[in-house]
Amino acid sequence: MKVLSGIQPTGRPHWGNYFGAIQQYIQLQSEEQSFYFIANLHALTTIRDGDQLRQNSLDTAIDLLALGLDPDQATLFIQSDVPEISELCWLLMAGTPMGLLERCVSYKDKIAKGLPVVTGLFTYPVLQAADILAYDSEVVPVGEDQKQHIEVCRDIAQAFNHAHGETFVLPKPKILDSSAKVPGTDGEKMSKSYGNFIEVFEPVKPMKKKIMRISTDSRPMEDAKEPEGDHLFQLYSLFASEEKKASMASMYRAGGFGYGDVKKAIFEEAEAFFAPARERRLELEANMDRVHQILGDGAAKARVKAAEVLARAKKACGV
Ligand code: ADP
Ligand code: TRP
Repeated sequence: MKVLSGIQPTGRPHWGNYFGAIQQYIQLQSEEQSFYFIANLHALTTIRDGDQLRQNSLDTAIDLLALGLDPDQATLFIQSDVPEISELCWLLMAGTPMGLLERCVSYKDKIAKGLPVVTGLFTYPVLQAADILAYDSEVVPVGEDQKQHIEVCRDIAQAFNHAHGETFVLPKPKILDSSAKVPGTDGEKMSKSYGNFIEVFEPVKPMKKKIMRISTDSRPMEDAKEPEGDHLFQLYSLFASEEKKASMASMYRAGGFGYGDVKKAIFEEAEAFFAPARERRLELEANMDRVHQILGDGAAKARVKAAEVLARAKKACGV
C-alpha cells in the first residue's frame, strides 16, 4: 500500500494531535511506500514571517522524528524541496472547475466570516491534490476535516484522466480514529483554538502545573464515581496500561479518593510516556546535520517519484 500524508508546520503538537493523528501516521510507516511531508507551501498562506516558517518546518520534522517516525522506513521531506509539485499543481489547475474549489469549506468559512482570502487559500486543495497524485498515493490518512480535500483530489484526478487518458491513481482517504476525542484541561475537546491544550514536548514543570489545574466537578471524596465519560479517566487511559486502567476504574467505583490523586497519576504516566521522545528530541536538536540529512535524503527520494509522475502527466496533456 502506498501511503502519504502532509502536516502543516503551524504549531507544536498537543496530546490531541498525537493520539488523534501522529501516532496513527507512524503506525503506517512500515507500509510498502510511506511518504510524510511538512506542508510549508500550504502554511505559507497563513504564516507570513519567513524565519518563523523555516523554524516551524524544522521543528515539525524534529517532532515527528522524536515521536517515532523512522527514516529507514518512511520518507520524510519538506514539501517545497520537491519543486515538481508546484509544476504539477499548474497542470491540474488548468483543468480544475472553479465550482469545485468554491464548494470547499476552508475557503467558504473565511468568506462567511468576512475575512480576507488570498488566492493561495482558494487554490489550496489543488496543491494538496498535486501532493497526493505526484507519488501515486493510494491511501491518505487524515483527520475528518480533510476528507473533503481528498474527495476534491479524486475529482481533479478524474477530470484529468478523462481529458488526457489514464494518468493518475485515485487515492482513498483513511479517516483517522479520533472517536476517542482527547479532552483538554477544561474537559472540552483539546484544541489549539481553545487554549486548553497540553503540548507533547511541554517542559515537565509547566506540564505538571497544567495537569494539576485540569477542571473537575466538586463531588465529595467519599462518593463512588463512574470512570466512563470522566475526562480525567479518559486522559489517564491514553497513557496507562490495561492493568493500571482497570485498577484506576475500580478506585473510581469504590470512591474515597481525591481528584488530585488521579491528576498525579496522569502526570506520572504522561511524563513516563513522552520521556523517551523528549530525550530523542534533545538529541536531534543537538544534531541538526543529521536532521538536514534525513530531510535531504527524503526529498531526493520523493523527487524521483514526483519527476516520474510529472513526466507522465506532461506527456498526457501535451506540454
Ligand atoms: P487543533 O484543533 O488543535 O487546531 P488540528 O485541527 O490542527 O488541531 O488537528 C490536527 C489533527 O489532530 C486532526 O486531524 C485531528 O485528527 C487531530 N486532533 C486534534 N485535536 C484532537 C483531539 N482533541 N482529539 C483527537 N484528535 C485530535
Ligand atoms: N491540508 C492538510 C492539513 O491542513 C495538510 C496537507 C497538505 C495534506 N497536503 C496534504 C494532507 C496531502 C494529506 C495529503 O492538515
